[in-house]
Amino acid sequence: MFRCLFFGVIALCAPVPSFAQVAPAPFTLPALPYATEALDPAIDATTMTIHHDKHHQAYVDALNKAVVADPSLAGRSLEALLAKASTLPPVVRNNAGGHWNHSFFWKTMAPAAQSGQPSAPLGAAIDRQFGSLAAFKVAFREAGTKRFGSGWVWLVVKADGTLAITSTPNQDNPLMDVADVKGTPVLGNDVWEHAYYLKYQNRRADYLDGWWQVVNWKTVSDRFAAARTR
Ligand SMILES: [Fe+2]
Repeated sequence: MFRCLFFGVIALCAPVPSFAQVAPAPFTLPALPYATEALDPAIDATTMTIHHDKHHQAYVDALNKAVVADPSLAGRSLEALLAKASTLPPVVRNNAGGHWNHSFFWKTMAPAAQSGQPSAPLGAAIDRQFGSLAAFKVAFREAGTKRFGSGWVWLVVKADGTLAITSTPNQDNPLMDVADVKGTPVLGNDVWEHAYYLKYQNRRADYLDGWWQVVNWKTVSDRFAAARTR
């Protein structure tokens, strides 16, 4: 389609893009909040680059493609999609989860020098629920190593305000209506092989142990405080 301006007998015409050509993709890949090498040696730069630039980008692209193809999904937020995961086609459920989980994951981490410690309220809640921070880490590792195949391990704040460790398969998460344990995630680790295999190969437990070096406890503590005030 062309739009023309007429100046006497002279017409200047230019193509007008269709709506489909100019409609913005509803979801976009967020930038990493640090350099790809910033988490080394816990997570190497090559893993970070492939994980973010290839895997996460693929979830975003597939989600956008699926949403554009299904008018009933238009305008829904990512969180709204997750809350109705049981009603979604698998391609939407998997890629909506993949996009949300990875966006959350990048912000859950920071360079080791900035990792910090849990806030006093979060530390007290962890002690109350798990006995100690060390015991919590052991339980978190156990949940991560027991996840068969691909998935995630989470620390969530449940509706009653208490903490729980849970694990979800594939790209599911505790915000989904299909989750066994529902709650607000404050911490989550990706135990898909693509998250660790280049450096750790089959040693998932070593990856889970090393990951504590780069947990952003300030962000996790802020999420905990926000979840408790809901
Ligand atoms: Fe991943």
